[in-house]
Amino acid sequence: MAHCLLIIEDPILQDIYSLNLKMYTDLDSIIKKTHYEAMSVFDHVDSVDLIIVQEKIDGVETADEMINFLKANDKSHIPVIMLGKERSIHYFANILPPKVDMSTLLKAVAKHMGVTARDIASRFVPEFFPIPVTFLENIEESNCEVFKRNADKDGKYMFYKVIEAGKKFTNKDILNIKKSGHRHVYIQSNLRLKFTNFYTRQVILKVRETKDPKKKVGLLQQAMDFVKTQSINEMPLSEETVEVANTYIEETLNMVGDSKALRYFMKNLLENTSGFAFQHCQLITYVSFQMVEAMDWGTKEQQKKLSFISFFHDIVLQEERLVKVHSTEEMNALNLDEQRKKVVEHHAYLASDIVSRIPNAPMGADIIIKQHHGAQNGIGFPKDFPSNLSPLAMVFMVAEEYVHYMLKNKADFSHEKAIKGLYDAFPKMGKWKRMIQTLEKMKI
Ligand SMILES: [Fe+2]
Ligand SMILES: [Fe+2]
Repeated sequence: MAHCLLIIEDPILQDIYSLNLKMYTDLDSIIKKTHYEAMSVFDHVDSVDLIIVQEKIDGVETADEMINFLKANDKSHIPVIMLGKERSIHYFANILPPKVDMSTLLKAVAKHMGVTARDIASRFVPEFFPIPVTFLENIEESNCEVFKRNADKDGKYMFYKVIEAGKKFTNKDILNIKKSGHRHVYIQSNLRLKFTNFYTRQVILKVRETKDPKKKVGLLQQAMDFVKTQSINEMPLSEETVEVANTYIEETLNMVGDSKALRYFMKNLLENTSGFAFQHCQLITYVSFQMVEAMDWGTKEQQKKLSFISFFHDIVLQEERLVKVHSTEEMNALNLDEQRKKVVEHHAYLASDIVSRIPNAPMGADIIIKQHHGAQNGIGFPKDFPSNLSPLAMVFMVAEEYVHYMLKNKADFSHEKAIKGLYDAFPKMGKWKRMIQTLEKMKI
């Protein structure tokens, strides 16, 4: 059995990561919250095959402490994936963003474990698949039957159903399973990926009840990553995925209107604890929300539409570096392979196509998404814009350009310089000029 030592702070991420690692790479996670606890694992576990560690926990340099420990104990051969800021000199096998999306994490893990997606799909798995009982505490129902395992008198394992599919269960039910000494329950192996998706989605939807802004931001990021991953697997997006997207959109709108939550978000932004794509979408919602509020033709409906558009506009771009691309020059500088280049060039069109198939999407949102780089057909990054772009698409473009400047110049951000940049990027007349003037007068 291969083990992954997972040292991260957030209990929700611990669960989502460990379940996905088990299901997609067959790694059993040992979860610890501090480097001290993590070090003691080596006293009683024969082998640790991989370590995933958060850079800092509670002000302690947890990742560095782990590296020093491994070096001092002749264990430097164990690959360590660090979730934190990029650094020039390091001993980590991989550095990924702090709240890395699941597919990037799984890809990195699969590489270190020497497995490919095809290996995983074709690997023999026993008929029943174990999951920790504690996972049930995060959900109120399961989309598949759940079993417990007992050995009969000959030592042969038997499986007994303890939870029905689609039927609500209570904490008491979980307690009963635990009381009978079971630390794991089982689901049928062929349903494990379906269960993983269901579980991830249920945990994300808890964002509605979550009051703590730190947890809220973490869950919103998970929501975006979830829809991003689904957008390449599902066509059209399923009702369940659209529910996750809508929840994100509503919660973001609430957050933008709530000064306390917003203050936390801005702090989080400067400390760089969430990924670029996520920050970029959240900030565009915030800036465009304020712009619409300041315009005489702005309505609440349009604010909601803009939040929807911010969420979906780059949804097909699966890598952070691709989300940063804003011009043909920036795209060429990345030396992308043909397939990636095509996706980047067509991303506005592709996202618009996905949105056009979502029932009850805000009217015209697909058209604005198609136009979000200023091309009517949603292809490429033109420098001159047609005169008949939708006004909301123009608000979006101005807000996005402003946000790009913000994220590029976090440390010495200047509103004045950002506005100057906007006057350079857009025509200095008509609606464009009036929109920039609106933003110029605002306190961001
Ligand atoms: Fe974008
Ligand atoms: Fe874009």
